[in-house]
Amino acid sequence: MSKRHAATIAARAGIAKDPAFSAVTPPLYLTSTYELTAFKQPGQYDYSRSNNPTRDLLAETLAELEGGAKAIVTSTGMSACLLALQLLTPDDTLVIPHDCYGGSYRLFTNLAQRKKAFKLLVVNFQQVGWQSQISAVKPKMIWLETPSNPLLQITDVRAVCSLASSLQALVVVDNTFLSPVLQQPLALGADIVVHSTTKYINGHSDIVGGVLVCKTQQLGDELKWWANCLGVTGAPFDSYMTLRGLRTLEPRIRLQQDNTARVVEFLTKQPLVAKTYYPGLADHPGHAIAAAQQTGFGAMCSFDLAADAALLPVFFSALNIFTLAQSLGGIESLICHPGSMTHASMDAEAQKTAGIGPTLIRLSVGIENVNDLITDLQQAFNAVSQAIAQGGDQQNTSRSQQKNEQHQQQFRLNPALGAFW
Ligand SMILES: Cc1ncc(COP(=O)(O)O)c(C=O)c1O
Repeated sequence: MSKRHAATIAARAGIAKDPAFSAVTPPLYLTSTYELTAFKQPGQYDYSRSNNPTRDLLAETLAELEGGAKAIVTSTGMSACLLALQLLTPDDTLVIPHDCYGGSYRLFTNLAQRKKAFKLLVVNFQQVGWQSQISAVKPKMIWLETPSNPLLQITDVRAVCSLASSLQALVVVDNTFLSPVLQQPLALGADIVVHSTTKYINGHSDIVGGVLVCKTQQLGDELKWWANCLGVTGAPFDSYMTLRGLRTLEPRIRLQQDNTARVVEFLTKQPLVAKTYYPGLADHPGHAIAAAQQTGFGAMCSFDLAADAALLPVFFSALNIFTLAQSLGGIESLICHPGSMTHASMDAEAQKTAGIGPTLIRLSVGIENVNDLITDLQQAFNAVSQAIAQGGDQQNTSRSQQKNEQHQQQFRLNPALGAFW
């Protein structure tokens, strides 16, 4: 059979493959264990931490979508990241981008500094000289996130993979922001793809999950062994939900992307927007690379509000459709303030280095009618204009900001609260 398109692979995930009753939609195997065929003769499955038919269907589909030899479905995106790090020893160096997802940054820095699990080099891939910085440390693994969270910076995956192969380093790409519909890192030379399947892959904000897709069977087998050993494999129910969401991945992401293009056009003309971050804009520094390595610019965008940060509560509370919440990639439009939410685990200095300013706002654009989305944003901008005209309720807003900052500080300083975002 010729190679199938992503839309077909996703829509047919597990369809008409039920060996028991020919069910069109595959059943959910909630069992934790499986009967042996006879003493010392296990069947195909023996225990669901190791293998489960529902989870296997999801893994096979994701491996096919990313063009990999093997996929391992995990309980969360973070457990997928943790799993990939099992390939490192304390003498190895991991290179990470300075502007990755805050939770990944927290994992990398804490494992390196507090556990000495590996050595760490934080690199700005947008700055001249990244090649020599990386070559100097001879890393075992280079981690990429492109487009990056939350500034949508683009890294040239082919260029990094070419350097990595000369250094015999592995390249891991977090493809959460695009999904295999819009970018396939393994085809660009990467060794492992990571997803928080919580996001576009599932697409309905009703589970958390992750996956690692490996280019080679050998890497896949090693990481699958670690997944069972550590117990980080995904739950069967979550796999079932993710399979259901995955079937509409292609049409969802196309519509979300179309809506985003319109929202971005609106934002670029909005006087209360200081800067819009979207790789689809011709003046975005990564535009040409994004056009070369992606098949679309995606459905995430960010912008700096051109107003005092004290007015952020006015903006957020005026919204009726965009929901102020963590996460992204669901069919519903979400809005977030990276500095105090998704990237709160980065300290102020790291946020500054990553370019995350106090009035940066990130949008995950959904499938709602785009005119309604624009109207919603417009009336929130109007509310800010009005507050500026009236001098703003400075006392209230700065009090709520102070409370928020204390809350963030607690999560940064207390590593025991590490499950936060
Ligand atoms: C780019 C990226 N990678 C990884 C993760 C972690 O995924 P999860 O929240 O499913 O553990 C996230 C979560 O927001 C993310 O945005």
